[in-house]
Amino acid sequence: MLRYLTAGESHCRELTAIIEGMPAGLDVASADIDREFKRRQSGYGRGGRMKIEADRAEITSGIRHGKTLGSPIALVVKNRDWENWTSIMSPDAIGASAEKAVTRPRPGHADLTGGLKYGHRDLRNVLERSSARETTMRVAAGAIARRLLGEFGIEVYSWVTEIGGVKGKFTGAPGALFRSAEGSEVRCPDGAASKAMMERIDKAKAEGDSLGGAFEVVLTGVPPGLGSYVQWDRKLDARLAFSLMSIQAIKGAEVGLGFSVASLPGSEVHDEIFYSAKGKSARFWPRRPGFTRKTNNAGGIEGGMSNGEPIVLRAAMKPIPTLYKPLRSVDIETKKPFKASVERSDTCAVPAAAVIAEAVVAFEVASAFLEKFGGDSISETGRNYTAYLDEIARY
Ligand SMILES: Cc1cc2nc3c(=O)[nH]c(=O)nc-3n(C[C@H](O)[C@H](O)[C@H](O)COP(=O)(O)O)c2cc1C
Repeated sequence: MLRYLTAGESHCRELTAIIEGMPAGLDVASADIDREFKRRQSGYGRGGRMKIEADRAEITSGIRHGKTLGSPIALVVKNRDWENWTSIMSPDAIGASAEKAVTRPRPGHADLTGGLKYGHRDLRNVLERSSARETTMRVAAGAIARRLLGEFGIEVYSWVTEIGGVKGKFTGAPGALFRSAEGSEVRCPDGAASKAMMERIDKAKAEGDSLGGAFEVVLTGVPPGLGSYVQWDRKLDARLAFSLMSIQAIKGAEVGLGFSVASLPGSEVHDEIFYSAKGKSARFWPRRPGFTRKTNNAGGIEGGMSNGEPIVLRAAMKPIPTLYKPLRSVDIETKKPFKASVERSDTCAVPAAAVIAEAVVAFEVASAFLEKFGGDSISETGRNYTAYLDEIARY
């Protein structure tokens, strides 16, 4: 079983992740992780924090001489401005520090409910962990999962489709769309829409407002049979929706046509099945001959299992809740109303959320892949995988 846990507060000494269940012999370099950190930290519309972060992964166990050992992998990322927070975030009992105590819950955040639930009167105890800073370690875990998927020809892509009502218009192969998205500051493959999105962000920023948006995550090379229909919690679509919805500020997730299936007749939704005897076997999926589809409205998942077509997911992100134009709230100590003010905040983080989504989806698919093919070493996983591909080619 592949699993991971993260620990760390936004301004504590360092963030931590432990990943367990990776087979031995997988090539992993810290540069693979740092590259994903850099992608998570970029994007037009980010606030001050991104300028001080410059995250670097330190692998502290589970990898030796560039290869996984099969033992738990531990990673840490130092918080660069820890030195300014040593007493405020000290784990030692140094006496209550009134400095930076937060008694004013921000609407749209975990602050108020977290305070009520855990009995915290300094809401910093809530916001430090509920912050999206935590996603750094999910991106680290995802980077390693992505290395595993890459070994078997599975690629993970994402691009932004919409920011603040400005929609991109584009079609093309996932790899090409991804490359154009990587060249756009808002990670949208449509150049004209990218420009309009940036102008929309500038306008929102000038007005003290914030923006949300939507993005797609696409995986190619996924073989049929990941996930299962036999039990509710093994359904791949459910697991992927869970992973997307676990990202801060994500409020909707779709598979394939998603919500638009509600208004279409069945004849325009379901992907007909064909068989092609032509072609030659590839090393990884897709192999030909085999069953094929001419459409992929299902987004690569039927009956809770990958069906061999690209997996297509979409998610919607709400606007950043901390606004320069303050929202009304109530101080938990004085019970007096106030207007929530801001130190620094993102105006829009949709491009970063898409990168985080790639990571969480990669991890979930890697986990389903290892459930299906097992293996304590990469070569064992590979043997099981190619034997399965050979078997389904004869089906
Ligand atoms: C990449 C990313 C960056 C974010 N940056 C901010 C930010 O700068 N300020 C803020 O108020 N919220 C930010 N958020 C959103 C909050 O973390 C989130 O809305 C909050 O924790 C409440 O969780 P919920 O929206 O899932 O209910 C960000 C979210 C993501 C995914």
